[in-house]
Amino acid sequence: MCGITGYIGKKEALPIVFENLKKLEYRGYDSAGVAFFDFSGDQKLVKAVGKLGNLEKLIKDEKSLPTMAAIGHTRWATHGVPNEVNAHPHFDCKKEFFLVHNGIIENYRELKDGLMKKGHNFRSQTDTEVLAHLVEEYGFDLAIKKVIGAYAIAAIFKNEPQKIYIARLGSPLVIGVGKDGYYVASDPTALAGLVKKVIFLKDGQRGLLALNSIKIGPARPKIVPLEIDAEQAKKGKFPHFMLKEIFEGSEVVAAALRGRIFPQKNLIKLGGLEGVAGKIPKIKRMEIISCGTSYYAGMIGAALFKELANLPTETILASEYRYARDPKQNNTACLFISQSGETADTLAALKKAKERKYLNLGLVNAVGSSIARETDAGVYNHAGPEIGVASTKAFLSQLSILSLMSLYFGQTKFEKNSQTARSLMAELVRISAKIQLVLKQSEAIRSLVKKYAHYKNFLYLGRGYNYPVALEGALKLKEISYAHAEGYAGGEMKHGPIALIDKNFPVVALVNKNHLYEKMISNLEEIKARNGKILAIASIGDKAIAKLADDVIYVPETVEQLEPILNTVPLQLFAYYFAVAHGNDVDKPRNLAKSVTVE
Ligand code: G6P
Repeated sequence: MCGITGYIGKKEALPIVFENLKKLEYRGYDSAGVAFFDFSGDQKLVKAVGKLGNLEKLIKDEKSLPTMAAIGHTRWATHGVPNEVNAHPHFDCKKEFFLVHNGIIENYRELKDGLMKKGHNFRSQTDTEVLAHLVEEYGFDLAIKKVIGAYAIAAIFKNEPQKIYIARLGSPLVIGVGKDGYYVASDPTALAGLVKKVIFLKDGQRGLLALNSIKIGPARPKIVPLEIDAEQAKKGKFPHFMLKEIFEGSEVVAAALRGRIFPQKNLIKLGGLEGVAGKIPKIKRMEIISCGTSYYAGMIGAALFKELANLPTETILASEYRYARDPKQNNTACLFISQSGETADTLAALKKAKERKYLNLGLVNAVGSSIARETDAGVYNHAGPEIGVASTKAFLSQLSILSLMSLYFGQTKFEKNSQTARSLMAELVRISAKIQLVLKQSEAIRSLVKKYAHYKNFLYLGRGYNYPVALEGALKLKEISYAHAEGYAGGEMKHGPIALIDKNFPVVALVNKNHLYEKMISNLEEIKARNGKILAIASIGDKAIAKLADDVIYVPETVEQLEPILNTVPLQLFAYYFAVAHGNDVDKPRNLAKSVTVE
């Protein structure tokens, strides 16, 4: 979703701001723009619809001009269509103030009416432009106090060409503190390789960046090291970030477990939860709250908490939770799962849970992000930046850590882990190597896709721990290939979706050798009887499945609780090669955004 960049310092600002916009492309956008001052003090504004290449063509000539301060933006349309007028930066009537903004101004209609009555002329349909006119009317500090909603802002004034104004409420903004100057970004990924120290702006903080000084208040800013390696944010030998990230699956699972699991001692250590360990035995119920792929991870997490910690657990979509008229209940823990740590719905749900004084935990990948900061305690994925919009490695990492968390809850509540827990621990240690075996089939999956790429509809089926995997597999396919895919619980098929089955409606089935194997086989028989085509994900050594399914991708056997990890990998590869076969922009699928910072 929208990206902000800015620079003030000794180097030329425009090329830096433009390069940093490129690093934020993965968040999703439909138009872009920059505003800057050249050394004669002239302000310039350039905007373009579509990819950054279009903006680049327009600023090619400008690039030769030395610039001292610049701000840039990639826009993902919320209010008003993606066109040049609606693209940021926006400005006031006199063109003396330019700003870029992420977030939503909820009271923009009322503010706009008031400003129009005072004679302000609006050019765009955006909520952001209201801010520019508000600043013209009331000055920066007073203007932002009048805003209800969420914002991260970077702005420049014509009469102060060597300064960048910044402010944050609800939407992320990070300041890079470099030797040559100050950088502004909505996402620390843009700062990798440029600075070693950053300041994550807190809600309600405002600031002023100048050539040699930085002022941030009212709360004192905290300078922390930037924990992103520039290499991690590059594609390397892979054609797409998504493929690179699928191939990182094995490594991120190993990283998630490192120093946290000790099977010989029957012990799980989660440093991030130690501070709240004393509260865990009193917890009677858990709510897992998240969106998208993180929500499906949460569904598997709920099954794990129920089985391994004997804890009644519900999974709730953050966008539903925030408005639900549900009763407040005692002894509740909430777990917020988010790759980006900035998803607006998840943050709003966290706010509600905080008001209820629940024990709020986080499972977050982005270090220092809002959800990580706002929760009482939590566990980081340490999966490195995920750039592909469709989440892949973060999901595998989430599943591994959810296993650890459920085991940790079990051990903390009962002071001893069960036999099921012991087998799960032993198998967790082996799972990373098993993922590598699945990844070795990547070429075979690519060939298989040729047989399926012409289909327009797919049904994904799974049961038990694999039901959420069916949902996630279908989500991956629709996100990047734009084919219609539905995930269903195998047992539910007879209550509706079976009506769709014919030779043109293939089924992707998760049929591992587990306690629901025979049940899944019966479901597949029903499909075969209706001429449906079946692509099965099955356990190595299962000969019977080859007779029933049209095609089979084999995965190593593992404990049921970890089947989702192994089954997800071929589904990610299938979706990836399917989208590539259709010539789609895999890393930046249409209409989607990586970090959904608006409601
Ligand atoms: C967006 C992304 C998804 C992601 C979801 C939740 O829709 O495109 O890949 O699963 O947001 O994001 P989060 O960062 O909270 O996990």
